[in-house]
Amino acid sequence: MTYPTPRAAVLTGIGSWLPPDELTNADLEARLDTTDEWIRSRTGIASRRRVSPGMSTSDLAVEAGGRALKSSGQDSVDAVVLATTTPDELCPATAPQVATRLGLPMVPAFDVSAVCAGFLYGLSVAAGLIATGAADRVLLIGAEAFTTLIDPDDRSTAAIFGDGAGAVVLRAGNPDEPGALGPVVLGSDGSRSDLAEVPAGGARRRVPTPEASPYLQMQGREIFRHAVRHMTAACRTATEAAGWQLADVDRLVAHQANIRIITSVADGLGIPPERRASNIERVGNTAGASVPVLLAEENASGGLVAGQRVLLTAFGGGLAWGAATLVWPSLASAQ
Ligand code: ACO
Repeated sequence: MTYPTPRAAVLTGIGSWLPPDELTNADLEARLDTTDEWIRSRTGIASRRRVSPGMSTSDLAVEAGGRALKSSGQDSVDAVVLATTTPDELCPATAPQVATRLGLPMVPAFDVSAVCAGFLYGLSVAAGLIATGAADRVLLIGAEAFTTLIDPDDRSTAAIFGDGAGAVVLRAGNPDEPGALGPVVLGSDGSRSDLAEVPAGGARRRVPTPEASPYLQMQGREIFRHAVRHMTAACRTATEAAGWQLADVDRLVAHQANIRIITSVADGLGIPPERRASNIERVGNTAGASVPVLLAEENASGGLVAGQRVLLTAFGGGLAWGAATLVWPSLASAQ
């Protein structure tokens, strides 16, 4: 049985926003049993941004989403998808509030929850909405106030995570035009959900107890191993599905979890250092916002230019991971 080729999702706008409050390694050194040297050498992170009191995920999402709409040159879309681990409230979803604040009331709007892989999952959802004709234009935002899930006294997580938001607009188009998303490869392994979890606050344990923390509990070393394995495999599958050789990849845009994870994945794929994009030193790990923030920053700085073959990948709690390809289009940068 053959089916008609579906409409492709084509990248047509991009934007990002980081909250102004900066938390440096020196700030962490001053209050935790850690050092700038330990954090830099083990993670590649020197600084990160965090939401200030009263600021939340929707505030970050509106800033990034507005910039992506401006970059696309049009202020309307048919759907809003928000990838986040930190909705403003457990119920309802945050996307409808974001859509309304962006002047997009009444459009379908919903959250996608896949932690650090959320943007890759969101790309697949957006591409599906476009392929089926349910939408011609979709605003996809990755936004995280992730530091709200972090125990400020836990040196093993406080050094890693930051907050921010990145967004893209995707429109219906042809598979062979620049910006057209290639096949999106996704995977998950719920048998290891314990490796990165927030035990309290959900339906199983609403209220924190001495045994169930309201903060992220992470087995860093195990996560590291799974991250390298699954991102490497997903990248191989995504490039193959797109008909690319790994040597064709001009830019690897990987989830900014840890510089050593990115190095291991890229080394395993044979992608040389000059083809690896990274902002982890300034931004830290912003979970589902990581990939779109990096894409927007690279587009603005000229690190990504039209015609480059780009490989995206992400991995995080769930476990959940993904990878996708696209040829970078010419995109306006909106501030
Ligand atoms: N400063 C000083 N020492 C520290 C710090 C710190 N900030 N954090 C941990 N340590 C200590 C530990 O307590 C441990 O001490 P011990 O040996 O006395 O017990 C020692 O350093 C080694 O700890 P490890 O966890 O084994 O250190 P590792 O080299 O693995 O680095 C890290 C830890 C940075 C967390 C790393 O494992 C990592 O980046 N893992 C991946 C994390 C990730 O990708 N998370 C994203 C997915 S999770 C999600 O989706 C939310």
